[in-house]
Amino acid sequence: HGEPAEVARRGARGLDRALLIGLGDASGLPPSGWVDAGGYLMGQLMSRRIASAAVLVDCASGAPDPQSAAEIALGMTLRSYAYRRFKTRPSADNGNGNGKQAEPGEFVILCRHPEKAAEAWRRQQALGEGVMLARELVNEPANVLGPEEFAATAEKLRELGCEVEVLDEERMRELKMGSFLSVGVGSVRPPRLAVIQWWGRDKGRTRPVAFIGKGVVFDTGGLSMKPAKGMEDMKGDMAGAACVTGLMHALAARKAHVNAVGLIGLVENMPSGSATRPGDIVTSMSGQTIEILNTDAEGRLVLADVLWYCQERFKPKAMIDLATLTGAIIVALGKEHAGLFSNDDKLAERLLQAGLDTGEKLWRMPLDAAYDREIDSKNADVKNIGGQYGGAITAAQFLQRFVNDKAWAHLDIAGTGMASNRSEINEGWASGFGVRLLNRLVESHYEG
Ligand code: BES
Ligand code: MN
Ligand code: ZN
Repeated sequence: HGEPAEVARRGARGLDRALLIGLGDASGLPPSGWVDAGGYLMGQLMSRRIASAAVLVDCASGAPDPQSAAEIALGMTLRSYAYRRFKTRPSADNGNGNGKQAEPGEFVILCRHPEKAAEAWRRQQALGEGVMLARELVNEPANVLGPEEFAATAEKLRELGCEVEVLDEERMRELKMGSFLSVGVGSVRPPRLAVIQWWGRDKGRTRPVAFIGKGVVFDTGGLSMKPAKGMEDMKGDMAGAACVTGLMHALAARKAHVNAVGLIGLVENMPSGSATRPGDIVTSMSGQTIEILNTDAEGRLVLADVLWYCQERFKPKAMIDLATLTGAIIVALGKEHAGLFSNDDKLAERLLQAGLDTGEKLWRMPLDAAYDREIDSKNADVKNIGGQYGGAITAAQFLQRFVNDKAWAHLDIAGTGMASNRSEINEGWASGFGVRLLNRLVESHYEG
């Protein structure tokens, strides 16, 4: 986009001004083009402190379909989100949407077939709420959002018709989740495992698709402690769990015709007198023993038990986990693509396509038995770190040991879930990455 032209100012039929924004050749827009256009438009409105506007969508090639109008509205909504909870005063006039929430304005989108557009908007609105819920959870500081508080947010999804269970430490001990539990023993705040179920089709006769999220509410590294610089970002080490929560919100709010379960492992990784030590050996729910050589490689310890529990209990037709798992994926892919690892080419293909459709892009990385020797342990069945190289791959290879032959995909979102590149639809720190991607996957392949 170039700068918008301001073609009129004040007076004309009660309009203060009109902004003209060219999108170029609409037929050449990428699939996420309308959402991005809405974001760009909202950015222009906010920087002019315009709180109400009518948006007229038209193309030389004919009016865009109602879906496109709804997508513009989604982009506008997402761009206007900012984390404001602790802003007690209105912001200076920087127009970036920060500061205390201004009086809500009104935005009207004028287009053809408004009834159809309104219907499309109901779905996009549900999706937008899901993305913003995910962002809000990621932005919340860890003193405010511990495992219990996060679980309480998940429980609110009951209002939308989800079944939500929260497993406490004692229940996890009964289930023998020694791997997951080892991560939380250094914290005074006990872990939780939230199970969110949405049965949107044929009374649960179709096996669900499962989404699993790493929910480390704060990752100090434990006794293998992280350096001080940048550690504050580790409040976002629950972006996977936030995505799953936002996705389940979106699916339930739009009453998606899908059976889906979301499982989130919520825990805090702290050093203390009761913390796990390097060299400790724990037994996972699967029965496999794990030698913990670095307490900072904790996400995989959480996921090992949640993946196992999920496939035992739900026998899902596909299982997708999201985790801010490794710094190595940021080295490999930067902030534009999340890493995709999968044991199933069809599932991988579907995910890659959903990434292209939404602009939440993935790049496939290898799984290969040849990496297994990197994580074979001298003293136990497996160790929780590999060698110097390929850290994102050895992490995924570790996870795969806790997956039987089910179709499974692992998304390493360490680079894309937070501190991501600003975009037309995101001005803030948390991105909500994955909610639009997986909503799209469900829409395209799992709604019967
Ligand atoms: N949560 C981190 C990964 C991370 C790093 C996420 C930067 C977002 C931004 C994870 O728990 C971690 O600490 N991974 C270690 C693994 C290592 C000890 C094998 C890493 O990547 O350094
Ligand atoms: Mn860590
Ligand atoms: Zn972590």
